[in-house]
Amino acid sequence: MSGSSETHVVVLAAGQGTRMKSSLPKVLHSIAGRPMIERVLEAANSLSPSTITLIVGHRSDVVREKLGKNQNIAFVLQEPQLGTAHALQQAEPVLAGRAGSVILLSGDVPLLSPNTLKRLLEMHRGSGAAATVVTATVDRPYGYGRIVRSRGRITRIVEERDASPTQRQIKEINSGIYAFDLAPLFDALRSIASQNAQGEFYLTDLIAIYRRRKLPVETLLVDNAQEIRGINSRSELAEVSRLVRQKKNEELMAAGVTFIDPATTYVDPEAEIAADTVLHPGVVIEGRTRIGAACEIQAYVRISDSEIGDRVTINSFCLISGAQVANGAALGPFAHLRPGTVVGEKAKIGNFVELKNTNLGPRSKANHLSYLGDATVGADVNVGAGTITCNYDGVHKHRTVIEDGAFIGSDSQLVAPVTVGKGAYVGAGSSIVEDVPAGALGIARGRQNNVEGWVERRKGSPDKT
Ligand code: UD1
Ligand code: MG
Repeated sequence: MSGSSETHVVVLAAGQGTRMKSSLPKVLHSIAGRPMIERVLEAANSLSPSTITLIVGHRSDVVREKLGKNQNIAFVLQEPQLGTAHALQQAEPVLAGRAGSVILLSGDVPLLSPNTLKRLLEMHRGSGAAATVVTATVDRPYGYGRIVRSRGRITRIVEERDASPTQRQIKEINSGIYAFDLAPLFDALRSIASQNAQGEFYLTDLIAIYRRRKLPVETLLVDNAQEIRGINSRSELAEVSRLVRQKKNEELMAAGVTFIDPATTYVDPEAEIAADTVLHPGVVIEGRTRIGAACEIQAYVRISDSEIGDRVTINSFCLISGAQVANGAALGPFAHLRPGTVVGEKAKIGNFVELKNTNLGPRSKANHLSYLGDATVGADVNVGAGTITCNYDGVHKHRTVIEDGAFIGSDSQLVAPVTVGKGAYVGAGSSIVEDVPAGALGIARGRQNNVEGWVERRKGSPDKT
């Protein structure tokens, strides 16, 4: 042991992920709404390591671009990708001259918990091992490296493709997660050869090399094998996403949220929902959404990155993104709340109403067939059916202001920039292009002309053909 307590993390993410059959690098595929590499990096960060090195290769530009904002990551290119040992070797320039422990993570093992990582580091340090391998016992070990033991101690790891029929029976698998002491690591990596079924430099060969060199190797067997599920195919991607959702739903149910059908209700891990809220089948809650208590969210509603207060009713088929909805409001069915929408307390948005970058005050209503874009609507306003704010002149966007207590008659267009004053009325069917003062009636439509007896006169005698 080096005696240094520094922790370094290396994440392998250079592989193409051939089995995904994708133009997107494997580690950018999403698990329950988030690229799997982000989950891995979050777990890495929980250790507050001195360095994080990400080994990138296949389409590294796309991976870098996605994670570019992450200042504390050192990106290292592995080109060509010759296997997991070769991948780890690329971290040598970053770690040269340093001491302590390296935690090696795999970009395609996204469910690893911070708690397991903490245990791995503690056990590794405590035992003074040169390497500690995280393992699990599973019923279906197919595809994983197998842990070969002799008299109870790990002697080597053998890959599925290189395993004998007897070795394939072994149910203890390699998670691809390890802790290493930095001191002997890079020297030992150089002695790994590529004589195996894939012609790759396997990191797993390090274990046998360490045993030969009499360097102590330990294993940490995790109870929950789900945590170390690796993702190599689309079907594993779907399966792992399902596990993440299931866990989230169970946590929420334990905290008092009702799911009419948990199997068809998707809630991203980052979302928060308070007690006594009811989620009906087909509801999808995405991103950093917060939903208050005692809300009723009917079937097939999708909410992303939004804040919903308490006792809000959302009827079926609403799409809500980047919006805020205050306590007691009611939405839908078929409402569309786009980013920048704020709906006040007890306000009501009915069917086929779209709001964008609009603030609708408390108790105001837009019950049917409206577009309210770039509008500031006060309290107690009634927006009649078919009202449209004409916010775009083809070049610029303009605001519509509707002050408290105003009443907008049905099928009106408010051509922005325009203000309808406090308590003012707009006659139905108006095209309002000038401000309507407070308390006034604004009416802007052709006058009605009734032509008496017109129908009778028009009738005449019918054609004979
Ligand atoms: C690997 C392990 C296997 C283990 C399994 C757990 C080896 C040889 N095998 O197999 O024992 O049971 O993980 O999930 O290590 N990578 C690179 N550069 C490369 C090759 C791979 O960065 O040249 C990265 C991949 O992007 C991936 C990770 O290393 O994130 C693992 O590679 P992968 O090809 O998925 O290995 P497995 O076959 O899953
Ligand atoms: Mg893998």
